[in-house]
Amino acid sequence: MAETEPFSVLFVCLGNICRSPAAEAVFTDLVRKRGAESKFKIDSAGTIGFHEGNPADPRMRAAAKRRGIDVTSISRPIRPSDFWEFDLILAMDMRNREDILSAYGRWRSKEPLPEDASKKVKLMCSFCKKHNEAEVPDPYYGGLQGFEKVLDLLEDACESLFDSIMAEKSQTSVS
Ligand code: 4NP
Repeated sequence: MAETEPFSVLFVCLGNICRSPAAEAVFTDLVRKRGAESKFKIDSAGTIGFHEGNPADPRMRAAAKRRGIDVTSISRPIRPSDFWEFDLILAMDMRNREDILSAYGRWRSKEPLPEDASKKVKLMCSFCKKHNEAEVPDPYYGGLQGFEKVLDLLEDACESLFDSIMAEKSQTSVS
């Protein structure tokens, strides 16, 4: 049976030290538990480079660790090549989505980028089934409860994200 290309997902927030590294870790953990590592490429980035090179916020790492999930990624800003390399770019909030799209517009006026890139930028919460929130709220300036809320939303969204990608993969697979 021919193995198809991995499906690539990039999670994006503002600083890439709270929400998107947690999303990367939650989704990686889920993919591993479902035995589907070879089918996915998973990464995260920020719309700003202010925290570049830093590990995730200790509050986010501790909250995820209590749920048995290690957040290990190092912050980096989104870059033009991400629009070639990723099939799906998931923004944590509407501002992130706008910033991703405006960066795409700026970069595209200077270098070739795929034409349909704006279609691959979606909101993380559009995959939530158990929550009605439209956005994953920024927990950075708030209390510890905010980090738990982020993880609740991410766990919900990641479950149906996984299911929807696998369903799409099975439809497009020619093997
Ligand atoms: P994140 O959270 O976008 O979920 O990583 C933030 C991290 C840093 C800042 C704001 C939000 N900051 O202002 O530095």
